[in-house]
Amino acid sequence: MADDVNDAIDEETAESSEALIAVHWREEEYYDPPAKLTAQANASSPAIREEYTEDKFPDSFTAYADLLTWYKRWDTVLDTSNAPFWKWFVGGELNASYNCVDRHMETHPNKAALIWIPEPESEAHQAITYRELYVRVNEFAAVLKDLGLKAGDRITFHMPMVPELPVAMLAAARLGVIHSQVFAGFSGTAAGHRIADSGSTVLVTMDGYYRSGDLLDHKVKADEAVEAAAKEGQEVDKVLVFRRYPGQYSAETPMVEGRDVFVDDLLAAHKGEIVEPVPLAATDPLFLMYTSGTTGRPKGCQHSIGGYLSYVAGTSKYYQDIHPDDTYWCMADIGWITGHSYIVYGPLALGTTSVIYEGTPNYPDAGRPWRIAQQLGVNIFHTSPTAIRMLRKVGPDEPAKYDYHFKTMTTVGEPIEPEVWRWYYETVGKGEAAITDTWWQTETGGFLGSTLPGVDKMKPGSCGPAALGIFPVILDEDANEVPAGSGKAGNICIRNPWPGVFQTIWGQPERFVSTYYAKYNTEPESKDWRDWPYFAGDGAVQSADGYYRILGRVDDVINVAGHRLGTKELESAALTVNEVAEAAAVPVVDDIRGRVVEMYVSLKPGYEATPEVENKVKRAIETDIGKIARPKNIWIVPDMPKTRSGKIMRRVIAATSNFTDTGDITTLANPEVVEKIRQQVQSAKVAKNEVPRELSETELHEIRSFGSE
Ligand code: WTA
Repeated sequence: MADDVNDAIDEETAESSEALIAVHWREEEYYDPPAKLTAQANASSPAIREEYTEDKFPDSFTAYADLLTWYKRWDTVLDTSNAPFWKWFVGGELNASYNCVDRHMETHPNKAALIWIPEPESEAHQAITYRELYVRVNEFAAVLKDLGLKAGDRITFHMPMVPELPVAMLAAARLGVIHSQVFAGFSGTAAGHRIADSGSTVLVTMDGYYRSGDLLDHKVKADEAVEAAAKEGQEVDKVLVFRRYPGQYSAETPMVEGRDVFVDDLLAAHKGEIVEPVPLAATDPLFLMYTSGTTGRPKGCQHSIGGYLSYVAGTSKYYQDIHPDDTYWCMADIGWITGHSYIVYGPLALGTTSVIYEGTPNYPDAGRPWRIAQQLGVNIFHTSPTAIRMLRKVGPDEPAKYDYHFKTMTTVGEPIEPEVWRWYYETVGKGEAAITDTWWQTETGGFLGSTLPGVDKMKPGSCGPAALGIFPVILDEDANEVPAGSGKAGNICIRNPWPGVFQTIWGQPERFVSTYYAKYNTEPESKDWRDWPYFAGDGAVQSADGYYRILGRVDDVINVAGHRLGTKELESAALTVNEVAEAAAVPVVDDIRGRVVEMYVSLKPGYEATPEVENKVKRAIETDIGKIARPKNIWIVPDMPKTRSGKIMRRVIAATSNFTDTGDITTLANPEVVEKIRQQVQSAKVAKNEVPRELSETELHEIRSFGSE
């Protein structure tokens, strides 16, 4: 941009155009899909795209719905009358639990639905057949019913990676009780906020679980959660505690009389009981999944039964290439959307075998995942760039030592660097498996962008073309379309609704519209879906071949190891420390976790910068959110760089932490503070040997535009 033009426009505009800066993306070479995979693939020819062209929308998606068993078929495929609250398969009735359990129990009862791998290698794995799953889901549904829970009520789970979690989800789904599973690594307080937001009266948890060799006391978090929820006016009547070892208590924290109950004790009264699945409307909610946004209050993304289940079944079939006789292992946590869609609902709807692993991938050594794959004959593997980077670092030669054969391998959650992609392809996949890099979000229920593994050429670092029936567009800040191959980045949007899209934010319908649809809608009264592009909040660039490269968030969200953390959430936690006057969280590029958080704070007058204050900030973040959010560094600075309107310039401090160019700072109210902070932070980082390597284009793009939304 010419300097004279730059001077003429106001600071806010200058900010947003940073995000659209022209860049020269280097193109990577293509890799062909493996012929052996294509020969057996569910999608084996490009002709499948013909069935999902725009003129066939929305009826094309009935093929996904037809993968399910319905009590009553729908009357209307897509109802847009209350735009943008889309309704899919209106008039249809089904039950998710029936679709994931009963119908497979009828056809192949003795096949493993789940295989659970405990973290300690001394403990045998547990295969749970569809018949056993049926029994366990029914019994737990009987327990929930006995507590008075019924369709439309909410229940919160704060469960680790154990088979009791899918059992509990499917039991709730059987009754139409809306479940909200909170990632076990989140703090009790974080679980408490989500209990309160969803209005749950029952919390389901576990006494303990293994992570990296330690049996963690998890029950203690339930007490914190109940207390935090009560502070927000939500009483929890019952805490149901599963036991890691039945009949034996693995936590130190005492049970609370009258409130806390062991699930195995309750189950004893419901042995063999059958609870008929409740026929529910396709548009009824199946679950809430909380995610971070630009304000402190988390967003409970509400997913429907009919649309969501159809979409995850269809995408599991075509993009993960799941057949009933595959052994499928997704290493994500069920506490995130990936686990809901692609450990539990998608794979089980297709009647396959889904593997669940309790612990950390590199425990007790970096060969663990490949040992599991060999032992169980896993042929579809699914994980995140963070896990791949970590396994590559700690055990680059481990995969070659094990005899397993993957046909497809998924990566999800963050952009994957081409060199990491190549290690995944050559070393983990042994050059014989397709990689599907799937771009999507908590809000979207399932994949939006990915190659079809048996059909499309792969290109490292790009997720690929749009998924079947998905019509993306990249728009600039003025809603102009950024053409493919222009080398320009913009905001990726989806022009059309799809069955997996979330229905609303629980209790915050205005926020649903304003965050995801208002940006590019010009006709708020319109009932035509064409007027409502879905704003994903990601920057992207599309190359001439139609492949998308996702650049990361354009809002105030930091993606740490594939987990979205809102800067506001982090900053609010820091601000609970009495000494802190201002706080700003920024992303720092990290070779394993993608990004980590660094927190800048300034103190109230009269307080000294001490290690004690730093520790208080760290502890506040761990208590409010969880250990995953712990900042790498806390910088106590004399002042924050600010615009004249008083807004903290996060991109300037992000640049400082990443040793990149701070860009134009002449419009700041206090430009002199930038150099002071730079000296303080960078000299400390030099001393700690934390100078980052040179950043890639993608990383630079994110740092330059951070916080500009
Ligand atoms: C990012 C996880 C690049 C993106 C399913 C998105 C990705 C956010 C990819 C959603 C990918 C997800 N390549 N970036 N393949 N997949 N992202 O809600 O920024 O936890 O908006 O859902 O992760 O994270 P969420």
